[in-house]
Amino acid sequence: MPAKTFIASGPLKGRIQVPGDKSISHRALMFAGLAVGTSRITGLLEGEDVLATAAAMRQFGASIAREDDGSWRVEGAGLGSLLEPRTHLDMGNSGTSTRLLMGLAASHAMTCVFTGDASLSGRPMNRVIAPLAQMGAQIEAASGGTLPLMVRGLTPAVPITYRLPIASAQVKSAVLIAALNTPGITRVIEPVATRDHTERMLAGFGARLETGEENGERVIALHGEADLAPMDVCVPGDPSSAAFFLVAASIVPGSDLTIANVGLNPTRAGIVTALRQMGADITEDNPREVGGEPVADLRVRHANLAGIDVDPAIVPSMIDEFPALFVAAALARGTTRTSGLAELRVKESDRIAVMARALALAGARVEETENGLTIHGTGGDPLPGTREGASVATELDHRIAMSMGVAGLASTRGVQVDDTAPIATSFPDFIPLLERASSR
Ligand code: S3P
Repeated sequence: MPAKTFIASGPLKGRIQVPGDKSISHRALMFAGLAVGTSRITGLLEGEDVLATAAAMRQFGASIAREDDGSWRVEGAGLGSLLEPRTHLDMGNSGTSTRLLMGLAASHAMTCVFTGDASLSGRPMNRVIAPLAQMGAQIEAASGGTLPLMVRGLTPAVPITYRLPIASAQVKSAVLIAALNTPGITRVIEPVATRDHTERMLAGFGARLETGEENGERVIALHGEADLAPMDVCVPGDPSSAAFFLVAASIVPGSDLTIANVGLNPTRAGIVTALRQMGADITEDNPREVGGEPVADLRVRHANLAGIDVDPAIVPSMIDEFPALFVAAALARGTTRTSGLAELRVKESDRIAVMARALALAGARVEETENGLTIHGTGGDPLPGTREGASVATELDHRIAMSMGVAGLASTRGVQVDDTAPIATSFPDFIPLLERASSR
């Protein structure tokens, strides 16, 4: 459990690059692993979560190796020809690996056991079990619908039409991935649009899929028994990782930082919108397309932020960025109110409760509401920071550790975080990158 105190160390300057997008990296490994032939992936996030997906795909029969130039070469096992894993699949901390690969196992005639760490083992899986059971998979989970669980897949599985009861890209993707090896057309209806990397990338790998709108809802129709052809994937930088630097540069006076190559898919870019509404100074340079995704270099300069009421409609497009936004709110002038964040309670930790405690420990004024936080900002003055001997409990949650690390940069005493190890799940170089940006 490496604890660390993050302290104020001056403005963030220069040009940095954040690692590859986590969601896109998982999907690139999975779909390349299902294609027939060799794919190459550049910019892959080499974090623990993505490596858990790579290890699982190897167990399913794909050959995956890192080349000397840092790219990854994947020889697919071929959809429908997967091997049955010889041992249980250890998903570590990764909800995305678990839920998407449960979909894969569901339509293959095999039995797979999924296990995970203490955080993942507390997270709800019924949301994926329900549609996959409709498709014919038999799934036995621990009481409460959690890991460890066993999926007994069915071939051929049954195509379904599934209307998402919660806004979840993981549930949508689990059904679409199960549909790949299922005859006929499987439909997913999304009342609220969530990140669409699965749809974009599956189309790139040659799956037949149509997306449209009916009665204001998104409808995705996937034609099963797909033939996936190999392709080269270039993974853009992760907006969820960039968020920590967007907030850090916004709250530390004198900062002027450029974050190169950040993915700005509209289903992910809510944090940029919300920070701008608070008065953040963020410009987009060199807009372009990378790997079928919109990308730009983001220049962010210190600004005097003001509290806002965050529109619940924006929540799905910044679902992972709330811990960082809460830190921005703690330094803003006036009050920020958030609501409609029930899903935050079932992430790697209960991010509403854990951030309420963490910010209070660092001296912020914060109130927990039913499904949100109300935060009264300092108006730009530094937070007091944690007291001698006190440290923020990160609860195996990388985004809590990084968000409170950023809070430390704008604090008088610094902010001590009890465990920085979870950061390696999504952003292994976060601490050196932050130190480099702050010491230019
Ligand atoms: C993800 C979807 C989101 C997000 C997670 C990654 C994905 O989860 O929070 O970090 O890659 O599909 P939900 O589907 O549970 O909202």
